[in-house]
Amino acid sequence: NRIAVLHGVNLDQLGRRPAAIYGGITYDQLEQHIEKWAKELGLQIRFMQTNSESEFINNLHNLDGLADGILINPGAWTHYAWSIRDALEIAALPAVEVHLSDPETREEWRHVSVVRELCFATVKGQGPDGYRDALALMKEHLAG
Ligand code: DQA
Repeated sequence: NRIAVLHGVNLDQLGRRPAAIYGGITYDQLEQHIEKWAKELGLQIRFMQTNSESEFINNLHNLDGLADGILINPGAWTHYAWSIRDALEIAALPAVEVHLSDPETREEWRHVSVVRELCFATVKGQGPDGYRDALALMKEHLAG
């Protein structure tokens, strides 16, 4: 199965963000972990990261025929970008929402997720390891 892993705004700067919240690893290191776990699970991975909301939306529009499932971490867009929610609906693929931190234990404005209702699972607050769980959930979902 082919999984698209979509990261949104500011996640390219992971190594410069508060280590107490995000674990201090860089975006490249995160990709390497995900790549390794995907291999172990026999999944094919395609990474996309952008700080441009329009590009993120275009990426979702263009997944048709390229991916069987989506892991999505939109960063701060999670909490207010309804355009991304609508684009995810258009993509019409099984999706898992992933966050390194647990937004629901943080500031009030992070408690809303515009994509949650379109995702069959949410994995949060587990740092990079959450992506391994998300991949395993996706594999199980696509097999069933
Ligand atoms: C995040 C949580 C968001 O609230 C935040 O804006 C991010 C990262 C996470 O992975 O924990 O940029 O999505």
